Amino acid sequence: EQTFAVVPAAGSGVRMGLNHPKQFHLLHGKPILAWTLERLLALPFVHGIVAVVPENAVGFVAALASSLGAGASVTVVAGGARRQDSVRAGLRALPDTCQWVVIHDGVRPMASPELFYRTYEAARQSGAAICACLAQDTVKMADSGWVQATVPRDRVWLVQTPQVFRRDLLERAFHLAQAFEWNATDDASLVERLGVRVAVVEGEKFNIKITTPEDLLWASWYLEHSPK
Ligand code: C5P
Repeated sequence: EQTFAVVPAAGSGVRMGLNHPKQFHLLHGKPILAWTLERLLALPFVHGIVAVVPENAVGFVAALASSLGAGASVTVVAGGARRQDSVRAGLRALPDTCQWVVIHDGVRPMASPELFYRTYEAARQSGAAICACLAQDTVKMADSGWVQATVPRDRVWLVQTPQVFRRDLLERAFHLAQAFEWNATDDASLVERLGVRVAVVEGEKFNIKITTPEDLLWASWYLEHSPK
């Protein structure tokens, strides 16, 4: 049973205010995406990676993978307009031998090996698993500057990647999403709509999705100090 990782990294990074997508921003001389790919390449249960990148960056990322000594295990394909279009493009590039899929954002370079294992193990038990952190602030719904409701925070989980799925479940979810025009900001929400139960394991506070310039400061410090 082979496991592959699909790494969506085809966003434009407009919220970062950089003149290049954030996944290619250099941290300690290395693009963020390279930090993420290295983490995945170090996992013994991952047989290969499909990196999904902007169309004009396919050549660059293929060269980047070769420079990591991983040219053979990384396939690079072009992404789409929404994250879910990019993941779908990644799924199409998986080999027939792949039965489990680890989806991990290209801009989350700080996920630990333990987090990948924990999420993978949970998915192997149930078919689908995500990692998430319980909300620590009080959570409210608000609209036009006015509070609408207070949400019990002991039931609010802030969801991260990795998310791990049995391949056939994921393919079915993406097939239906295409047919019925479902929109989702993560992959599990499509699988949930199949009626499949998705397991939740504890995420990591520092497994942030690098989105804003402040995130870069934190990531830069962490990657210098964290164990490799
Ligand atoms: O846009 P968001 O912050 O949710 O992006 C999470 C991940 O999905 C990033 O790694 C980003 O590059 C990727 N993405 C993508 N294709 C898109 C939009 C985002 O692969 N069209």
